[in-house]
Amino acid sequence: MAAHVLVFPFPAQGHLNSMLKLAELLSLSGLQITFLTTEYHHSRLCLHSQTHARLSQRPGFWFRSISDGLPDQKLRSAARLLELYESLTYNSSSLFRDFLISNQRQETQQYSEDGWSRITCMVVDGIMPFAMDVATDLGVPTIAFRTSSPCSIWSYFCLPSLVQAGEFPFPEEGDLDERIHAVPGMESFLRRRDLPSFFRKARDMNDPGLRFVYEVTASTTRAKAFILNTFEAMDGTVLSHIRTVCPTTYAIGPLHTMLRRSVSSLLSNTTSSNSANLREEDRSCLTWLDKQPKGSVVYVSFGSFAVMTDEDLMEFWHGLVNSGQRFLWVIRPDLVNGVEEEGSQSLSVPPEVAEATRERGCLVAWAPQEEVLAHPSLGCFLTHSGWNSTLESVVAGVPMICWPFFVDQQITSRFVSQVWKIGLDMKDMNGREVVERMVREAMEGERAQELKKSATAMAEKARESVEEGGSSYMDLQSLVHYLKSTAS
Ligand code: UDX
Repeated sequence: MAAHVLVFPFPAQGHLNSMLKLAELLSLSGLQITFLTTEYHHSRLCLHSQTHARLSQRPGFWFRSISDGLPDQKLRSAARLLELYESLTYNSSSLFRDFLISNQRQETQQYSEDGWSRITCMVVDGIMPFAMDVATDLGVPTIAFRTSSPCSIWSYFCLPSLVQAGEFPFPEEGDLDERIHAVPGMESFLRRRDLPSFFRKARDMNDPGLRFVYEVTASTTRAKAFILNTFEAMDGTVLSHIRTVCPTTYAIGPLHTMLRRSVSSLLSNTTSSNSANLREEDRSCLTWLDKQPKGSVVYVSFGSFAVMTDEDLMEFWHGLVNSGQRFLWVIRPDLVNGVEEEGSQSLSVPPEVAEATRERGCLVAWAPQEEVLAHPSLGCFLTHSGWNSTLESVVAGVPMICWPFFVDQQITSRFVSQVWKIGLDMKDMNGREVVERMVREAMEGERAQELKKSATAMAEKARESVEEGGSSYMDLQSLVHYLKSTAS
């Protein structure tokens, strides 16, 4: 019997991007794959993802979907994240059980017209313990995959130590620059303000957000193994700590580089990026980038969930214009206040800002980000520090300016500036002057050169990790070996 892996991500852009890449890599390693997502997100993938189109044709690769339980077809935007999560947990859990039971009930190995066979193992998004519990109950071995930064995950594991050390909860009105000592490996640079956003909001352990991340993280220890999208040269210390609680942790990233390396011949024939896009990408920005001088453009994107007020957006806009640099900016329709129908159209942009934007700016609703970051015109990336975006910037050797929004982004931006030294941290600062100053610092002069040098060195280490014999390459081999063994 052939090994058949069910890959089940949480249905959101950053999760789908990395888990579809993992699924394709496993398929290239000779495993049969079923990629399970929700009906809503599957329909978006069908519309916008070239990767989906390609993989749908591949023998031994199946897309399957279940309902997310939400009643309408409105966009599952930032504002509906919690609603989506709760609906999945409470409504889709039983649908998932039915799905798995119907699969496992088959006695024969191949029973459907398209050859879909019995699932032998599951890689589940670690923020969905309900799926792990269902699979375990039905005797399907499960591996957890987390799409967040490993440093954030280690900090969640350390929550009991933080409480015991009296470092959490933070005193009301306490100094956010106070040092945190109870996260092993981070004693010399971690401050209260750098812990993931849940810590700052919570007043005690009963805070729902904090309980959620802690319980979800702790559930990982029930899985057969743990997968992280990182590499030893970047996250070796954090990984060694995580392995004290999850001994079998595979670090197989950066996944997009690993995949690009594996399918380079295939990708050179495609005109679109290798992404699980839920939105239509505007490729005109690549033509615009072609016309800009080398290293001259600030790429600005706040990922798929971050939202801001129209005042914040205008401060960024003024700061970018005042820096005098060229910029390419992704303004999602729901970036302002999280509302899809409104957004930048309702903003009143001063004529001089509009004029400067026409001269040296380019605005799009969604960009082919991996290709943008790899473009020679790129100078730096003003990012929200989402983990996929961070890894994509690392691989491209592009220094970052970090404006973390929520969840893991606060701690990731601290690692970018203090540990890897490949960017600047704009956390908790705002205003056009700050934006202007940081953009200048990252683009001009000595500091910019230092950042570029460190970013180039880190990109080289990322490349080495996915080469034959590299740390991520070897971990992927071990993972595939384990997955294949589930068929016997
Ligand atoms: C959040 C978290 O911050 C992240 O760490 C977690 O793992 C998932 O949820 P998100 O806001 O989605 O992430 O950001 P990020 O992880 O950076 O993922 C966004 C993805 O969308 C990236 O792969 C990026 O390449 C892609 N993207 C973004 C585009 O393809 N085009 C765009 O215009 C913007």
